[in-house]
Order: sequence, then C-alpha cells, then structure tokens
Amino acid sequence: MKVEMKNISKAFFKNQVLDGVDLVIDDATVLALCGENGAGKSTLMKILTGMISKDEGTILIDGIEKNYSHLKEAEKDGLIFIHQELNVIPDMTVEENIFLGKEINKGGILDKKTMRKETAELMERLGVDIDPGATMSKLSVGKQQMVEIAKALHNDVKVLIMDEPTSALTISETQTLFRIIASLKKQGVSIIYISHRMEEIFEICDKVTVLRDGKCIATNNVSDVTVDDVVRMMIGREIGDRYPKRNSHFGETIFEVKHLSSAPYVRDVSFNLREGEILGIAGLMGAGRSETMHTIFGSIKKDEGEIDIEGQTVHIRNPIEAKKHGIAFITEDRKNEGLLLPFSIKFNISVANLKKLSNKLGVLDKNKEKKMTEGAIKDFSIKCSDESQHVESLSGGNQQKVVFAKWVTTDPKILILDEPTRGVDVGAKKEIYDIMNDLTKEGVSIIMISSELPEIIGMSDRVVVLHEGKSVGIVEGSDINEEKIMNLATRGV
Ligand SMILES: Nc1ncnc2c1ncn2[C@@H]1O[C@H](COP(=O)(O)OP(=O)(O)OP(=O)(O)O)[C@@H](O)[C@H]1O
Ligand SMILES: [Mg+2]
Repeated sequence: MKVEMKNISKAFFKNQVLDGVDLVIDDATVLALCGENGAGKSTLMKILTGMISKDEGTILIDGIEKNYSHLKEAEKDGLIFIHQELNVIPDMTVEENIFLGKEINKGGILDKKTMRKETAELMERLGVDIDPGATMSKLSVGKQQMVEIAKALHNDVKVLIMDEPTSALTISETQTLFRIIASLKKQGVSIIYISHRMEEIFEICDKVTVLRDGKCIATNNVSDVTVDDVVRMMIGREIGDRYPKRNSHFGETIFEVKHLSSAPYVRDVSFNLREGEILGIAGLMGAGRSETMHTIFGSIKKDEGEIDIEGQTVHIRNPIEAKKHGIAFITEDRKNEGLLLPFSIKFNISVANLKKLSNKLGVLDKNKEKKMTEGAIKDFSIKCSDESQHVESLSGGNQQKVVFAKWVTTDPKILILDEPTRGVDVGAKKEIYDIMNDLTKEGVSIIMISSELPEIIGMSDRVVVLHEGKSVGIVEGSDINEEKIMNLATRGV
C-alpha cells in the first residue's frame, strides 16, 4: 500500500516535535526512518496510525485521505504498528496475547484448540521455538518481541511499522525477522523500519528518511549513501571515533565472584573485577548473563558460590543490601524495573538519592534536588522540556539516559549495566561511552552485558564469556575480537 504523509506538524504544549514533515512509502518497499533520540520518529508513526492527532498535514493511503482517530481503525486498513516498548500482557499466555480481541469462538465457547494450532503455525512461520501456552512474563524480552511480530502477521498486514524491533532479539532471531521482512516485501507489504543500528538499515532497507529535530532532512536510496552520510544527516555533524580511548591502568581486584550458581540459569560463574576496569560480559541470549547479575544483586536467590568485595566475603540477600555495598544495577527492562514512568525526571532521580538530598532532619533539600537533576539533564544531554517532564513522555532513548543518570548520581563503586545503549542513538551512545570512561577514571568499576559485539569489543578491558550458565573463558587485549568471543559463546570451549 502506498502511504503519503504531507506537511505533518505536531506540538506538545510549546514543544514543536514535528515541523512540516513529508514521508512517502511505496508498495513493496522497506523504508528506514532514522534520527536521533527525540527526533520525532515514534510520534510520526503514532500520528500515521491514529494513536495521536496531528496539528497539521495530510495523510493519504493509496491516494485516499485518511484521518484515523484510533489505532484499531488503522489496523482495519492493514496498518500494523509494532511498538518500541513491548506491548504484551504479561499475565496472559502467548496464544491469548495473539488472539486478544480476536478470539475464535465455536458455539459460544472459546475454541482453544484452533487458537493453539494457529499460534503454533505462526511460530513455525517465524522459525522460533515458543510454546503457545507459555505465560508471557516467563519469556525472555526477545521472545516477547517475537510474539508481537507473530501477532502482526496474524493480522492481515499491508503496512508494517516496526519501531526498533531487533533491539532485544538474538542474532538468529534478527536473521529470521529479516527473512520475514523480505518475504512480506515480496507480497507487496510496505515496511517502515525504525532502527538505530546502521548495519541493519544497510542490510534490509531500500530507502532511508532522516529526521532531525522534527524536520525531514532527506530521503535517499540506501544504495546512494554511506553509513557516515546517514549519521551526519542525523546529528548534523561528524561523530569522530565511536569509542573513547581506554587507559589500561587498573587498581586491585575489588570484586570477585567464585563458583556462583542459581538454578537453572546460572551454573558456575567465576570472575574478578579490578578497580577502574570495564569488564564485558558476552554470551548468547539464554547464556545466563542477566541472571548472573541478578544473582549478584540479590534479586535472584543464590544457591551456591561466594562474592567478595575488597577481599571480604559478603552476603547479599536482596537489592537493598547490594546497594549498601556500593553496587548499582541498570537492568535491561527499563519499563518495569528502571523507572517510575508516570513521574517526573526530577522525581525519578531524587528518589534514588533521598539520603544524599536530605538534610540532617531527613527533609528533602529542594535546592540540592534541583541542582542535581539539572546537572544530570545537562551531563547526560537528556532531551526534555524541563526536569518536571514525566518520564513516560520522553523518547525511548532519553528514558534510558534517565535510568543512567538515576544510578550514576548514587555514586556506586561497582556499576552493573545490562544492555546500556539499547535503543540509544549513535550520538547518545558515544555520550554514554564517554560517561562510562570518565566514571572508571574516578575509580568506579563497571560490568557491562551487551549483545552488540562492537560495543563489547570497543569498550571492554577484559571480556568474560558465558555459555549455558558457566563462565567459559576470559579474553583480554588483542584476543578481544569477534571470532574469539563467538567461539567461546557458541561452543563453550
Ligand atoms: N505525550 C507526549 N507529551 C509530551 N511530549 C512528548 C510526548 N510524546 C513525545 N513527546 C516528545 O516528543 C519528542 C519526540 O519524541 P519521539 O518519541 O517521537 O522520538 P523518537 O524519534 O521516537 O526517539 P527515540 O529514538 O528515542 O525513540 C521528544 O522530545 C518527546 O519528549
Ligand atoms: Mg521512538
């Protein structure tokens, strides 16, 4: 289906988020929509699908003007939007999520058998192994994402909009998704693909439209431009080196894990961390990376093993005790664990720092609070109207920066990061890397889980590789390369 958006404008209060944007997508085309965090990509797609209203502009679908006032109307016309933040119902099963609102009835009762069969068929089409009867909350973020894609396929899709679909997928799931995109395109489906991952855009997209500060900068054939061209259009300047130079002088081991286990995901993990070091944690999805960190942090119960901080064995039974020992943990699930979405940036940051911000009587010092939040907004370049903006109305990448700011302001000694730059644009990634680098100069030690190998390779001083819940190797120096890490991650030898 052909989609034309003409001269679209939108302001939230005084914040002009979109300013006269044009976007055209033809049949059987994959269009990349690029731009920094907060550029207006998600907002533009929400306008297209009737989730929010526009202030100005026209939308034509196959030449006919449309003004959807609800997502359901757009879905009826075959426009399916897979959101940036997962949109599943955690307490329901996979099949219940897929058939939500479209349940199959037979003689007035739910036809569970058919729904299960169709769900299983969808999963097979996607080439993923997901039990239709599994509860959503028990699935990994990656698998939940695949269920959303299955749900879109189940609807009769004509325009598929994907807002950062691969940020939580494994390499093989991503390849599966790309195969599906190619086959949908062959069937004439138009695909709008939002991603911060340049390699993906260049692999699967035909055209690329770049937004900057709510304006459309250009639309090009992907074959006519380079990655650097797109990045320059996005941020309006050259970005320079992607990763900061690391200084390789470290202090003593300040943290050590010995034979840690927590059934069923963590089976025998050992490593040490030195002062001022960035230790990368690599492994495939399901290797137990996040679970290991949750076990250390006390949010998953430890079965066996020892944790030493500065040479002393410590017993961490819950996250509060972990924080007392100077550990901070930025989890991968910012929606559920990282942020209080209906509250302001200020509140989210100060709630993590109550002690520091209170006077002797325990009363919150408003001046200190304001200073700390304003400082954080500046240090992390958080794009917002001011510190009172609610976190839920920030763009995805800016939400991630608030999570970061919230924890870093607590002055941790050991900072654990799980996918710290997921959903973050290239410019902001660089800023986060610089912050990490600066923190280590001040003596903070960082453990970083990442599924993006370039990031692991670019930032880590040493890399621990996990395979099926076990630490199977530590690489350092020139051994930190893709081949070595993937070898360990896939075969555990
Ligand atoms: N409901 C809202 N109320 C107020 N401001 C909003 C609302 N929704 C979005 N914004 C603002 O609009 C701007 C654009 O946000 P949008 O989510 O479209 O960005 P994006 O390009 O998708 O970014 P990202 O790559 O981080 O996902 C941001 O500055 C955001 O704070
Ligand atoms: Mg977005």
